[in-house]
Amino acid sequence: MTKRVAIFISGGGSNMLRLIDSMTGDHPARACVVLSNTPTAGGLEKAEARGIPTEVVRHQPFDGDRTAFEHAIEAAISPYAPDIICLAGFMRKLTAGFVDPWRGRMLNIHPSLLPKYRGLRTHARALEAGDRLHGCTVHEVTPALDDGPVLGQAEVRVQDDDTADTLATRVLAREHQLYPAVLARFAAGNMDLLYLPA
Ligand code: GAR
Repeated sequence: MTKRVAIFISGGGSNMLRLIDSMTGDHPARACVVLSNTPTAGGLEKAEARGIPTEVVRHQPFDGDRTAFEHAIEAAISPYAPDIICLAGFMRKLTAGFVDPWRGRMLNIHPSLLPKYRGLRTHARALEAGDRLHGCTVHEVTPALDDGPVLGQAEVRVQDDDTADTLATRVLAREHQLYPAVLARFAAGNMDLLYLPA
């Protein structure tokens, strides 16, 4: 049976768009809803232009009450009956209370070769460390930040004249290849590591 995918965003949604556009034909999944924690996320309009319903659950009114925020998210997505959640630039930490019931059914993309550089400023940190290889990771979500079983990685070679911005641009292009490829496999029940070398 076709799997239903909820995509969570906070920003421009370029990964979201690649995921939506990949789910056609004999792909085992379809996007059922896009949720954002901010009403100004550019990805919302792009999802609507593709005919995907959108939901906004702002985090500010919950004033740090993560559990209440997460209950509101759960309530917003449950009418769409998703089977899988894809975090795609969703910049809020989710607690175990939300994550645990979704274990094995929630993916995230992170712009580093995990376990390196969890958290923010991944490109700058890779440059500061003098890394010659950088990249991105798709992993299953667990309550620990940017942790959980790795499903796919794509490498990017660091160039001598790279800045955090130029590196980010090339990593993002690899994210757009990696995430749809991992999701297609995952939705079909294939958890084998997908490794895309530089
Ligand atoms: C992407 O680079 C994604 O890997 C990153 O946010 C960006 C969202 O871009 N996610 C994280 O840093 C999560 N830890 P997009 O909105 O254009 O897809």
